[in-house]
Amino acid sequence: MSSKFSKIGFILAVAGSAVGLGNAWKFPTLVGQNGGSAFVLLYLILTLGVGFVIFLAELALGKLSEKDPVNAYRTLAPKHKKAWSFAGFTMIANILIASFYSVIIGWILKYVFLSITFELPFDINSAKDQFNELLHKDFLSQLICFTLVFFVIFYIVSKGVKNGIEKLNIWMMPTLFILLIMMLVYTMSKDGFYMAAKFLFVPDFSKISVSAVLEALGMAFFSLSLGVGTIITYSASLPDKTNFITSTLNIIFINILVGILMGLIVFTFIFEFSADPAASGPGLIFISLSTLFSKLGIIGSIFAVAFFISLIFAGITSAISMIEPFAFYLINTYEMSRKKALIIIGFIVYILGIFCILSYLSFTHGYFSFFGMSFFDILDSLSSKIIMPLGGILVAIFVGFIMKKEGLKILFKPYMRGIYFELWYVFLRFISPLAVIIIMISIFIR
Ligand code: TRP
Repeated sequence: MSSKFSKIGFILAVAGSAVGLGNAWKFPTLVGQNGGSAFVLLYLILTLGVGFVIFLAELALGKLSEKDPVNAYRTLAPKHKKAWSFAGFTMIANILIASFYSVIIGWILKYVFLSITFELPFDINSAKDQFNELLHKDFLSQLICFTLVFFVIFYIVSKGVKNGIEKLNIWMMPTLFILLIMMLVYTMSKDGFYMAAKFLFVPDFSKISVSAVLEALGMAFFSLSLGVGTIITYSASLPDKTNFITSTLNIIFINILVGILMGLIVFTFIFEFSADPAASGPGLIFISLSTLFSKLGIIGSIFAVAFFISLIFAGITSAISMIEPFAFYLINTYEMSRKKALIIIGFIVYILGIFCILSYLSFTHGYFSFFGMSFFDILDSLSSKIIMPLGGILVAIFVGFIMKKEGLKILFKPYMRGIYFELWYVFLRFISPLAVIIIMISIFIR
């Protein structure tokens, strides 16, 4: 990524990275498991108070160094360059995420096929059985779908992120949005909608637990692609004279909105059929949406295909942003060709992805579970609950204490100055990292 993005290209690429299965799949799942509204509130607070703050810090790191994460730290650290460059290696988590993430995109692809062949079931219990069948028994479908997704992702990254992504995003984002609005309008006519809205918006503080706070923190990081060098990498190609403050705020707003819309739609059907929002785990959105679509007959099938395909695109633009940082690093540091870098990364992602699939299959589950967790869940937890927050703390300390304030002031001046800048700086140095540290520690002493 040596050349710059176009202005709109940058915004779309970052928005494409942010909006993905985090909003559409992970957010509803976690909301269901962590008691609804309280989790939503925590997520909002942490997105603005921690996510936004660290997002701008990563952006500064990328823009001022114009390098990949490892070399960004190395270039900007006045001393202890080598030690700081290790902070950039939090980008390894991207590879772990890319593997289970591609497996989920694979599930969505399977649902495209199921929609085309009119195999979406009418009631929620059969929908549950169908998903569980895929997850626990159907290795072949998962393998084929994952493999297809894998090749598409690596093909796009091999063409260079700028060319591939810009065209994809320009029509994918609006399509996804329009479909979501149409689905929302339909769900509004259902009784479950009222319960879904209540579940998401009427705060119930009794449901807040320490682990819910950590989940919400991980979700805030995951959903803004933070703490693992993705934003650093994209910002390395940030064109000059871009108002990155308004861009960032817009991206954060869209990102939250997609999650909320998705939550309203998914939970409407969960409550409509008196299902338990916490019980379905990774299958929640598939189970809920397939009942929604099957209710609508033939129109529903067309809708389902359009919706699942736009989710696949949203997922792919995110997955691309997981591959690029490490590729950019290998190309920069070892003067490797893009192709060679991608073969190395692809190999790791593919193997880990297969392990993720095997870890949910009933006959291999036992071999791919550790500490009572599936390999899939371990990759997910390790990255969102440990590496990403840790990466965020390191970014905050580096930009807040090691980098010169003057340089940051100059960078931010055209778009954010005076009290706003100072406020951000205080959050960056103290409030945000301390919040992250306290949340992480309290989990261990619980
Ligand atoms: N933010 C994306 C989503 O919500 C996922 C994502 C993209 C991501 N790049 C990332 C997550 C880097 C962690 C790290 O779907």
